Amino acid sequence: MQINDVTTLDRDGAIAIVTIDSPPVNALSATVRTGVAEAMAKAYADDTVAAIVLMCAGRTFFAGADITELGKPPIQPDLRALQRIVEDAPKPVIAAMHGTALGGGLELALVAHRRIAVPSAKCGLPEVKLGLMPGAGGTQRLPRVVGAERALEMMTSGEPIGADEAERIGLFDRLAAEGALREDAVAFARAVAAAGEPLEKVRDRPLTAEPGLFDAFRATHARRFRGLTAPENIIRSVEQAIPLSFEEGLTNERDLFRELLDGPQSAALRHVFFAERQAARVDALPKGIATLPVNRVGVIGAGTMGGGIAMNFANVGLPVTIVETRQEALDRGLGIIRRNYENSAKKGKLTADQVEQRMACLTGSLALDDLDDCDLVIEAVFEQMDVKQDLFRRLDAVAKPGAILATNTSYLDVDAIAAVTGRPESVLGLHFFSPANVMRLLEIVNADKTDPAVLATAVALARTIGKVGVVVGNCFGFVGNRMLAARHAQAEAVVNEGAMPWDVDRVIAGFGFAMGPFAMRDLVGLDVGWKREASTGATVREVLNEMGRHGQKTGGGYYDYDEKRTATPSPVAERAVFDFSAEQGIERRAVSDDEIRDRCLLAMVNEGAKILDEGIAQRASDIDTVWINGYGWPPYRGGPMFWADQVGLPVVLEKLNALAAAHGDVFVPSPLIERLVGSGKGFADA
Ligand code: 3HC
Repeated sequence: MQINDVTTLDRDGAIAIVTIDSPPVNALSATVRTGVAEAMAKAYADDTVAAIVLMCAGRTFFAGADITELGKPPIQPDLRALQRIVEDAPKPVIAAMHGTALGGGLELALVAHRRIAVPSAKCGLPEVKLGLMPGAGGTQRLPRVVGAERALEMMTSGEPIGADEAERIGLFDRLAAEGALREDAVAFARAVAAAGEPLEKVRDRPLTAEPGLFDAFRATHARRFRGLTAPENIIRSVEQAIPLSFEEGLTNERDLFRELLDGPQSAALRHVFFAERQAARVDALPKGIATLPVNRVGVIGAGTMGGGIAMNFANVGLPVTIVETRQEALDRGLGIIRRNYENSAKKGKLTADQVEQRMACLTGSLALDDLDDCDLVIEAVFEQMDVKQDLFRRLDAVAKPGAILATNTSYLDVDAIAAVTGRPESVLGLHFFSPANVMRLLEIVNADKTDPAVLATAVALARTIGKVGVVVGNCFGFVGNRMLAARHAQAEAVVNEGAMPWDVDRVIAGFGFAMGPFAMRDLVGLDVGWKREASTGATVREVLNEMGRHGQKTGGGYYDYDEKRTATPSPVAERAVFDFSAEQGIERRAVSDDEIRDRCLLAMVNEGAKILDEGIAQRASDIDTVWINGYGWPPYRGGPMFWADQVGLPVVLEKLNALAAAHGDVFVPSPLIERLVGSGKGFADA
């Protein structure tokens, strides 16, 4: 029987089966909740129904509350009302899970009287990743089932667990055979009904915790929770519930949830969730455009970058030919890849067989000619225009017709590289971030002549290899490095004027970045790519480079490092900073933390606005996605453009005008900001 657009109620003997089919992920939208409530009411009223199975069609059990509804006025029945209907059922309800039972989905399963799942199912409470906490009894019920400590781990990490483990810790009552969920759930329901035992409700179980658990948990994870508001509310919700009744605990959970939902971090993290998914949509591409087949990939260069790039494809079973100029470099590159895989195996992330399978995908070669059977070739050679152009000329002669030719350049003009080939339509930029096998961002540079099918193939491929692909236009440094250059220029300027590198790093880390720009430089190496910096004239960095202080690898840069690579501010660098200011005739002054933050971050925002206005980025949220996935912008601040909107564009504009008066043209507001403020809009509407 069809209950509503997404809900059916049918029967297998005395067992009623409620099935939801609301693609893509069966989020618990108002329609879904209404459907479940109505189906339940029908099944309750029918005396011939002995028990009820609640399950979903399609790829997954409920993947959570409908995130698009969060923060809007609630539509009845809300999730909690639906849970009461299920929990107080007059007959057993069995939740039958496949796919990912997440958030509100798992919370709904927790009010069922029994839980069964296929072995491939996963479950978890990932709300923390959206800056939230479980708000439908999760913080009250999960600890009653798996214990307070385990529940805290699951809720503060947000990581799902597999069905096997869920069964082991008592969260699932039993496992169904893969592919036979419905049959096994019905059989289970029959057995439960036949046993005729009183209905078991999780809420009736006791909630206990070892003394000191909560403070110990806070202390152990202090680093991971730094800057975040949600983990503390999760911990509190469990801690404060210990002496309370279940209902009181639930009320408290609602208040703590509300506080997060209304706060800036959840708004930012929900923005990030949708921004990443939105980035895959390319407005310029015709709908439904066919992609080109990619069955073999070529990578030129077996250095850190080339090796990391090759691993991405080997990880998904795509054969890769890696070309180097010298045997020694090739051997070294392949050796590093093997070591990376073996390290993953040591950590239990790969089996020994998988290591071999992945290595078997890789073929080394010293001849460019061996790339003649590749559908996609990515070069990762020295970052210099003539070197790249020379390579593309040769590649053009070797690669088969229709093969995609990609450059991993991080700054250079992709059009100029494409122009030396006879097939500029097949050329684009694929800018990976180091370490390329780890970092999620992939800037896909759509050059002037890039064919839409080539672009669409790159976008699809990014997803295949687990990257967040963001399509960007061709300009110096594209989106990420162009804005990074703007930030670096300010970081350097404030140091020249009176701040110390460690002051800048403290402010930037305090904002939520993992590290500040100078600590980052020390990590990457001061000598890497400095000639291509946008900052003009000599800088302290060049002075340090000339002294041989290239960063961590030489034991010192802006900081000094001990054997454990612990950083301390370097007196040598301090001297260099003072001398440099004096040489430049700059009278040093006190630079406040606020000034450091505003100059570094607003320079980025202004550059981002120009990037958007020029059409280099499709939308403001793409810029946010770049910065969060490639440059360590704290996700809970939503990315630079979202952050600017949160600060308020009128405030940003006022500050930019003041900074422009004091510190020059880079701060002259982008016309886009002027226009948006003029029409009362933000970047989100741009
Ligand atoms: N609400 C609304 N839309 C959702 C959604 C949700 N909970 N989960 C996924 N979607 C949408 C995505 O936006 C995407 O839409 P699009 O195709 O228009 O871009 C589509 O579903 C498919 O999502 P993915 O591309 O992410 O598909 P995957 O197969 O890669 O991943 C998933 C599936 C693991 C379910 C992943 O989507 C996911 O992690 N979703 C979020 C789960 C979550 O956070 N749930 C908790 C919600 S908060 C909550 O429940 C509060 C409660 O405690 C009160």
